[in-house]
Amino acid sequence: MSYHNPYTPPRKSATFDDYTLAEIRRAAATGIYDIRGAGTKRKVPHFDDLLFLGASISRYPLEGYREKCDTTVVLGSRFAKKPITLKTPITIAGMSFGALSGNAKEALGRGATLAGTSTTTGDGGMTNEERGHSQTLVYQYLPSRYGMNPRDLRRADAIEVVVGQGAKPGGGGMLLGQKISDRVAHMRNLPKGIDQRSACRHPDWTGPDDLEIKIMELREITDWEKPIYVKVGGARPYYDTALAVKAGADVVVLDGMQGGTAATQDVFIENVGMPTLACIRPAVQALQDLGMHRKVQLIISGGIRSGADVAKALALGADAVAIGTAALVAIGDNDPKWEEEYQKLGTTAGAYDDWHEGKDPAGITTQDPELANRLDPIAAGRRLANYLKVMTLEAQTIARACGKNHLHNLEPEDLCALTMEAAAMAQIPLAGTNWYPGKGGF
Ligand SMILES: Cc1cc2nc3c(=O)[nH]c(=O)nc-3n(C[C@H](O)[C@H](O)[C@H](O)COP(=O)(O)O)c2cc1C
Repeated sequence: MSYHNPYTPPRKSATFDDYTLAEIRRAAATGIYDIRGAGTKRKVPHFDDLLFLGASISRYPLEGYREKCDTTVVLGSRFAKKPITLKTPITIAGMSFGALSGNAKEALGRGATLAGTSTTTGDGGMTNEERGHSQTLVYQYLPSRYGMNPRDLRRADAIEVVVGQGAKPGGGGMLLGQKISDRVAHMRNLPKGIDQRSACRHPDWTGPDDLEIKIMELREITDWEKPIYVKVGGARPYYDTALAVKAGADVVVLDGMQGGTAATQDVFIENVGMPTLACIRPAVQALQDLGMHRKVQLIISGGIRSGADVAKALALGADAVAIGTAALVAIGDNDPKWEEEYQKLGTTAGAYDDWHEGKDPAGITTQDPELANRLDPIAAGRRLANYLKVMTLEAQTIARACGKNHLHNLEPEDLCALTMEAAAMAQIPLAGTNWYPGKGGF
């Protein structure tokens, strides 16, 4: 006879929690791994774990209504004949046409232009809508070379050589057959309707020296006019930044593990890469060690949502930030107004991440013309511009409170950390102390 203990309720394992059990059953039933969009869903140390100190007797604040706090940023001042000047240090990250609908790309271009900032192509080439509606357009040069051609290199305002992404450092992209429409297939030179995996490394590189040769080629093709960015996923930020600088980059884009993706294996998104917060100080250190801080600009991305996040990234030494997921939300992604349709897809607003399936009710991560037409690029562009404006104002408010007349004057001294982990990763003293763990190296 079995004994039932009336005192203790059934106890579930923290290791084998309900989600884990369901994932094991899903894998057992289907034999395939889970692919999804968006960034990591687990909680890792982030900008939320830092606070600003604000002014006090030793520092005086600036008045919001009459004292200026500048937000402009110049990118590509090292070698490019035509560096880029933006009104706000918040840029739109590279997201591909293919992953996103033409209307979504147009909305991003419109919003960025209204806000005085740049947007970026992606792993699928440059669309005319996007070029036409983006005052400043960064053109990605990717391992896959999808949609790559010298004409578009010259039509761009800057070139971003993509080595990796924070959601999947070391991994390539995916675009499933259901999103490979006639137009996407034509732009990528791919067969329609067949799953595609983008390369994880450039076909003609065997090491950092080849990056230098590639940058030189791109400069020659574009007559040394365009700033050349190098984008890396957050894996070894000190060495990757140093190598990108040595290879001749004008700008380093560093994307931490919270960074979004259009479609990647869940196991990759959740288990590879370093939190954005942990990437910034080593990268800044590399720039300082080479005497290049503020000469080669550093753009940080991966989980940036608010003006506070922007101000914190800048205070840690970044020159600008890039946003992907938050920009998609601003134009209408995961909007509760589509809840009924999310439910039909077995999900809910705020959790919808099956972006690879191309069934997005909001018309953003789809190539279905009917769904894509739900997104009005003009209205969506205005929403993005509003959001960018609010984030810029928020960052300015914080900077003024810290006594700074330019966002770039924010500094590590303006911050304290809430947790030991954040203190160690961001090298910011734990609140109430002048100490952080691990002083003295990476
Ligand atoms: C829908 C989507 C598509 C993306 N496509 C690309 C791409 O083509 N090339 C690339 O370098 N990064 C791509 N990314 C990553 C972004 O450029 C950026 O690194 C990331 O979204 C930043 O993190 P955040 O989403 O938390 O802001 C994509 C991200 C998303 C959400």
